[in-house]
Amino acid sequence: MHKITLIPGDGIGPEVTEAAVKVLDAAGANIDWDVQYAGDCMYQKCGNPLPEETLASIEKNGVAFKGPLTTPVGTGFRSVNVAMRKHFDLYVNLRPAKTYPGVYSRYDNIDLVVVRENTEDLYAGIEHMVGPDAAESIKIFTRKGCERIIRWAFEYAIKEGRKKVTAVHKANIMKCTDGMYLDIFRQIAPEYPQIEAEDVIADAMSMRLVYAPEEYDVLVMPNLYGDILSDLCAGLVGGLGIAPGANIGEKIALFEPIHGTAPTIVGQGIANPTATILSSCLMLKHIGEQAKGDMIEQAVAKVIKDGKTVTVDLGGTASTMEFANAVIAEIK
Ligand code: NAI
Repeated sequence: MHKITLIPGDGIGPEVTEAAVKVLDAAGANIDWDVQYAGDCMYQKCGNPLPEETLASIEKNGVAFKGPLTTPVGTGFRSVNVAMRKHFDLYVNLRPAKTYPGVYSRYDNIDLVVVRENTEDLYAGIEHMVGPDAAESIKIFTRKGCERIIRWAFEYAIKEGRKKVTAVHKANIMKCTDGMYLDIFRQIAPEYPQIEAEDVIADAMSMRLVYAPEEYDVLVMPNLYGDILSDLCAGLVGGLGIAPGANIGEKIALFEPIHGTAPTIVGQGIANPTATILSSCLMLKHIGEQAKGDMIEQAVAKVIKDGKTVTVDLGGTASTMEFANAVIAEIK
């Protein structure tokens, strides 16, 4: 039995996590859920969006599965997602982007993975006003931070039988931060001669990804480029509703869809649970239950390909739970 922290989250979070938990149960995943809360729901309830009990549960269990959390724009509390990633030093943000037949996309042959550094860069949150009319934000890169994410990407490529790792940077402009990152990439790459290594400037990468995404395999990049390009990659394969994610550190891993709380469709039961279900497949792999994860992924792919029971964002009329039940029917 695996004890895992479950954080339903805000907005559509409770709807999509409930669907995913039902699918996991049907697949026979032996999970004892430790349900905890974070985000706006806790902020409204007790003024603290990230309670100590929630952190303690994740610390104890080592694995968490969560729905999206609201982050107020401009004012209000800081991102709870960023706080959790920092607290547990979850330095890897893994975001696979794969085409599934049946999902509308301009491409039919994408199978790439964005490995985004998750703790440094402009997301260190060190920013301040300089007088009333200027603001400054500090971009932090450390040798340790660069080395561990680059090495993780190469190790992942080997473990997953992938062929190429592409480093994304802007070392032409930011010679210290991105320059150090690129130097480290070039130092580490020869240690993995079986993996092709290349580096591409972030703006050119944006163009290349739209022009010929099938050329890419594993992409490793600093936090900001990773944030932007992983959403771009989600768009290449048909949108946020199907894009899973994982945040991984040395001791703790947290699995979640990459989409947000989708405020405009909350409570209607129409959110697509695919991204959350596919995130649970990444989690099953992480806890040594890959066969069950593969089984669920194949069932999801079959339901999407059939196209009869898909949610509104995929052109269907099925509710969140009808989709989950169709996946369950494929598993059984
Ligand atoms: P969003 O991802 O919530 O929504 C963007 C668009 O995608 C909307 O049209 C939404 O309806 C649609 N969408 C998203 N997920 C969907 C699903 N599963 N099924 C069908 N349609 C779906 O992004 P937005 O609007 O920028 O952010 C809303 C809130 O979510 C903000 O407070 C933001 O901070 C938070 N957020 C949280 C994340 C997390 O907890 N990991 C990640 C991204 C945003």
